[in-house]
Amino acid sequence: MRFVTALLSLLCAVFMPFGYAAEPARADPAQAQQIVTKVCAACHAADGNSVMPANPALAGQHADYVVKQLADFKANKARKNPVMYGMAASLSSQDMQNLGAYFESQKPKTRAAKDPALVNLGQQIYRGGIMAKGVAACASCHGPTGAGVPAQFPRVAGQFAEYSAAQLQSFRAGDRANDTNSMMRMIAGRLSDGEIKAVAEYIAGLR
Ligand code: HEC
Ligand code: HEC
Repeated sequence: MRFVTALLSLLCAVFMPFGYAAEPARADPAQAQQIVTKVCAACHAADGNSVMPANPALAGQHADYVVKQLADFKANKARKNPVMYGMAASLSSQDMQNLGAYFESQKPKTRAAKDPALVNLGQQIYRGGIMAKGVAACASCHGPTGAGVPAQFPRVAGQFAEYSAAQLQSFRAGDRANDTNSMMRMIAGRLSDGEIKAVAEYIAGLR
């Protein structure tokens, strides 16, 4: 188990920097303001602290991760979503950079886990993985507080449980396949529905 975790971390460290090309352009969060107000705010709120669980919170998310997701939505292959495809299709890569910088600079709201009964199991999985199934600890990539590790590993702390669970199911089904080296598909593929629910609930309350 420890070996698996170590191996995964090593693979991440070695391969992730080449997962996608960094844009040479400079990001300017102020330039994103107009697009945010006119377009994104309707669903993600102007400060990225969305209100509806189907629309993920973006406040405090790492800029590089946001840029990658927007590019992936626009490419419409490894991460398909009809709503976000429509949003990303008209964005230039400079817009994406600006939007990433904008949302990273917003302060994330904290949330409390809604179902304390699930939190214990969720915490065990998050911190220690599931040894018997070869599931690596989520904390080894997303960090002990869920803050993530830029640029590779997204922030997950304080995200809506419904959204995180839906993403884990999507990785498990292989519908979302934009994770370099299948990192998340391998992990989610070994989680049961109950385990997904529990760990998503735990993440929601992380800060
Ligand atoms: C009509 C509602 C709507 C609008 C408007 C919208 N989004 Fe989204 N956004 C969503 C939904 C729903 C998802 C989740 C998609 C999924 O399930 O994969 C999402 C996902 C995302 C993600 C991925 C988040 C993650 O944690 O992986 C990013 C980044 C994002 N949106 C950025 C934007 C930006 C930037 C804009 C403005 C240009 C925008 N969105 C406009 C509904 C919207
Ligand atoms: C080996 C490293 C690694 C481990 C371990 C790992 N993740 Fe991830 N996770 C990633 C990467 C990389 C992504 C982003 C993929 C991409 O580029 O879209 C991700 C994305 C996610 C997302 C989607 C975030 C969003 O905003 O859409 C969720 C939710 C998630 N992971 C939860 C977990 C949980 C729960 C665990 C433990 C059971 C876990 N991860 C373990 C690397 C990891």
